[in-house]
Amino acid sequence: MKTRVLITGVAGFIGSNLADRLLKVGGYNVVGIDNLSYGVKEQIPDRVDFHLIDIRDRDIYPLFENIDYVFHFAAKNCISDCQLDPVETADINVHGTVNVFEAAKRANVKKVIYAESSAMYEGSRKLPTPETDVFPESFYAVSKNSTMYFAEAYTRYYNLKSTALRYFCVYGPRQDYRRTIPPVFSAFIIKLLKGEQPYIYGTGEKRRDFIHVDDINDFHMQCMTDSRTDGEVFNLGSGINYSVNEIYKIIANLLNSNIKPVYRPDMPGEAQANLADISKAIKLGWKPKIDLIYGLQSAIEYIKIVVMKDCKMQ
Ligand SMILES: NC(=O)c1ccc[n+]([C@@H]2O[C@H](COP(=O)([O-])OP(=O)(O)OC[C@H]3O[C@@H](n4cnc5c(N)ncnc54)[C@H](O)[C@@H]3O)[C@@H](O)[C@H]2O)c1
Repeated sequence: MKTRVLITGVAGFIGSNLADRLLKVGGYNVVGIDNLSYGVKEQIPDRVDFHLIDIRDRDIYPLFENIDYVFHFAAKNCISDCQLDPVETADINVHGTVNVFEAAKRANVKKVIYAESSAMYEGSRKLPTPETDVFPESFYAVSKNSTMYFAEAYTRYYNLKSTALRYFCVYGPRQDYRRTIPPVFSAFIIKLLKGEQPYIYGTGEKRRDFIHVDDINDFHMQCMTDSRTDGEVFNLGSGINYSVNEIYKIIANLLNSNIKPVYRPDMPGEAQANLADISKAIKLGWKPKIDLIYGLQSAIEYIKIVVMKDCKMQ
């Protein structure tokens, strides 16, 4: 009997990568839901039983029947977009997430593994930041923080098991390059491949902890079978951070480019630095394996093949 997994946000970056991993490993049937507001249908692996539906819709409930594990990734997750529309941020990230918890509870699933965010540490002064140092500031971070309380209440009153994952800056194939302001890696790579000057917002001295999507997928797989993750929250980062300027130099070197970036005014609501304290996940035997240079090279190859083809077509 195959294990049945439901992924929300399956057309997005992390969701589609996890669907791929589950189908490659074998032994899983994958149901996926997404409203395609950010995600792309072509990214969903063929063998996923895909449903075009919004997580806020109560019609999602029947899709959860006979599901063993739920991975909940669907969210409005661009910090600057969230700052512009706090109402929609709360609607998707809080109301939508509670609807997913409700669906999971009604279907009596074994566990929900869901995405919180390192943005919840925005106001923390402690680096590396442990899971306990939560100080959300932006609307996005506050919305993620609220889901933590709902997850706890669903466990308290309905015995719904969950694991919360606080990703730092996840990168890898299928990273969302279509956003108004794409994640830093894809933005730099795309511009440099086109021979254009990339933008750096602020001075470029903000430091970020980057983690490859394959590394977080290792932990996703562990969460399904390791009961020590039940009711717990984990940071998923690499435990090393780089400034945006450093990342720029590494990417420009890998692409043999001497194009200089253009510095633009800083974006509101972003922390100066993040760095994960990953000791809690490491105690369970997980550790990040993918080196940044190798990870960047594979992101460049992906963008050359998939994204640049799209760019030419637009
Ligand atoms: N990528 C990162 O570095 C990172 C860091 C911290 C936290 N996270 C969290 O991890 C999760 C996954 O992130 P990602 O990078 O894959 O994002 P993504 O934008 O690539 O994917 C999110 C998916 O959710 C879908 N979606 C959005 N609103 C929806 C709705 N109302 N109903 C149904 N589907 C909806 C989008 O169409 C998209 O396919 C998110 O919850 C995000 O907040 C990601």
